[in-house]
Amino acid sequence: MVMVSKSVSTITGFYKKTIQERLEIIKNSANLSSDDVLALSPEFHLAPPLLDSFIENVVGHFSLPLGIASNFLINGEDFFVPMAIEESSVVAAASYGAKLVRSGGGFTVKSSSPIMTGQIQLLCPNKDYDSIIEKLKTWEPELINLVNMTDPILLSLGGGAEGCQYRIIPEIFSIIIHLDVDVRDAMGANTVNTMCEAGGAFLKKKCQESNLSCEPRLMILTNLTEKRMVRATGKVPFSSLSSPTSSDSSKRDGHFVAQKIVEAFLFAKHDIYRASTHNKGIMNGIDPIAIATGNDWRAIEAGAHAFAARSGSYLPLSEWSISLDSDDESLMGTLEIPLAVGVIGGVTKLHPTAQASLKLLKSPSAQRLSEIICAVGLAQNLAALKSLATEGIQKGHMKLHQKNIDLFKNLSSSKKSP
Ligand code: MEV
Repeated sequence: MVMVSKSVSTITGFYKKTIQERLEIIKNSANLSSDDVLALSPEFHLAPPLLDSFIENVVGHFSLPLGIASNFLINGEDFFVPMAIEESSVVAAASYGAKLVRSGGGFTVKSSSPIMTGQIQLLCPNKDYDSIIEKLKTWEPELINLVNMTDPILLSLGGGAEGCQYRIIPEIFSIIIHLDVDVRDAMGANTVNTMCEAGGAFLKKKCQESNLSCEPRLMILTNLTEKRMVRATGKVPFSSLSSPTSSDSSKRDGHFVAQKIVEAFLFAKHDIYRASTHNKGIMNGIDPIAIATGNDWRAIEAGAHAFAARSGSYLPLSEWSISLDSDDESLMGTLEIPLAVGVIGGVTKLHPTAQASLKLLKSPSAQRLSEIICAVGLAQNLAALKSLATEGIQKGHMKLHQKNIDLFKNLSSSKKSP
């Protein structure tokens, strides 16, 4: 039996273990049941009734590899991170990035309350926007009460609609009402959409009663969840970035490597073409956990890229700088991103692999899950930038990708043979 301390996600040679050994290690790390282990293992398949209930016109399922990233120390807690992804080298890179940040004390992550925002578009052709908004404000307490009645459970858990903001978009003769809802441990899309529609119906009635020629149009959440933000920071001492035995003299100096990583960040800051790829690298870390935990990664992607472009220029989501404090010479990284994820409801609850993945992450709240995900995005970005700024991405990537190529060659040759 492979022994592992409950609190440590650093395992020497984790990548060299067999699948069974890795399963044993993570089982012990998080007290997983045999059913959880089965749900994470290659033997697991979704049973047809459940499969058929998730989407329409089901004919089968599409498997992705599920890997485990190691070395994550986040707000003082250790995590093995489940990542569902088809791309080789991503899980290894996340683990490496986490190891570098671990050497500087691990990730520090902060997040805001789980506030989702819905939009109700009110078409007001008579253009008297300011006085209409004054009217809408007088109706707001009633609107909040009414929309909260659509989700008494959320209310009993301490969540619910909290307030509105009003924006005018004169080009389309519209007032946009932003409805902020604390969705607690849910991702919250359904809750917010239901509330928006209830709010829209209420406003329609009120406008008719008051002879206001305004008409509700679209009623839907925004994926730019700028009130549901997460910020991860990590530092890497120069000593961890140096390779003292490297034949390449530039890699022997950790400060030099750190400078090159900062230069790589500046490239992304000043060039949208590079920013796009820089952010893709961050999403390489984020999407796979979202998938493994049954979360909507398209929503996360949409929010992340809209947030990256919020200033009018598309910018990198992370920042890297150098700290030259005399006793703390290090590379410093920050990733700030909107992250709408849930741990209850939908696939999160129904998919046994998503449930087991959440258990492996110590059954986090939605807020805690977003913090873990943000840390992984930062680790992924660090590992990519370090490779790009030193030896180039292909050396490490191709070493790991070689397994795919060999397999492909084997499959092709076995198909040719009679
Ligand atoms: C590849 O999937 C991701 C990278 O291109 C990210 C980056 O360039 O920063 C390596």
